[in-house]
Amino acid sequence: MTHEPQPIDAAAWNAEHYRARHAFVFESSADLAGSWLEPQAGERILDLGCGTGELTARIAQSGAEVVGLDASPEMIAGANAAYKDVTFEVVDAHALAYQAEFDAVFSNAALHWMKPLDTVFARMADALKPGGRLVLEMGGAGNVQTVIDAVNHATHTLGLPEAPHPWIFPSTGQLATLLESAGLRVERTHWFTRPSVLKGEDGFRAWLEGFGGAWLAPLSAADRAAVLAEAEAYARPKLWNGAEWVADYRRLRAVAVKP
Ligand code: BEZ
Repeated sequence: MTHEPQPIDAAAWNAEHYRARHAFVFESSADLAGSWLEPQAGERILDLGCGTGELTARIAQSGAEVVGLDASPEMIAGANAAYKDVTFEVVDAHALAYQAEFDAVFSNAALHWMKPLDTVFARMADALKPGGRLVLEMGGAGNVQTVIDAVNHATHTLGLPEAPHPWIFPSTGQLATLLESAGLRVERTHWFTRPSVLKGEDGFRAWLEGFGGAWLAPLSAADRAAVLAEAEAYARPKLWNGAEWVADYRRLRAVAVKP
């Protein structure tokens, strides 16, 4: 029997699935949009990689005028349906064209998808007014390393070509260098661990299927199924605590100011 590769569209995010299975992504960063960003009424704020818009809407409650951008039409459709009073647009971060328009640029759990990051930070810096601030959280060095090890172990064990994962997880020093190269002054960084529950008995697979689509897309459907099974078996002793899957999230936050 032959197995044709199933098309996986990396951009085809499903907003309902995202909210149902990955709500921790925005719930656990509520303080980033609160005490880190400190949005003020009347400010103009850009939320880059806003996903389904939960944190954008939260920022808007401060009275700031917020624009949420995401490269995924599916995510923006979900955001528009849920938050009718907030402005959302489909935009690729590498093509941001704002010049000195925003008091703050905010981004949560999105920048690790945006290679090359130096271009994106330059566009974000352009978008800030002088004195404006960039407030971000992304995956930091070591993020989901067990998941990455599990997939690499699986492809190796099955004799499949090793595929590089699609993300960038910088160290604190690498992030500071990137921000400074974009002309920003780094005021604060914070790397920390955040063990994150992946809901359900199938939480590990659901995470990989939801976020690893582009990574596993070159494989045939049969090979992909085999990799998922092998990776899950590898990860179980490390990430399954007897009741739930807990992924080894490592976060990196920063505040940087445009002089
Ligand atoms: C993260 O938020 O750390 C993350 C999400 C999806 C894929 C990789 C990392």
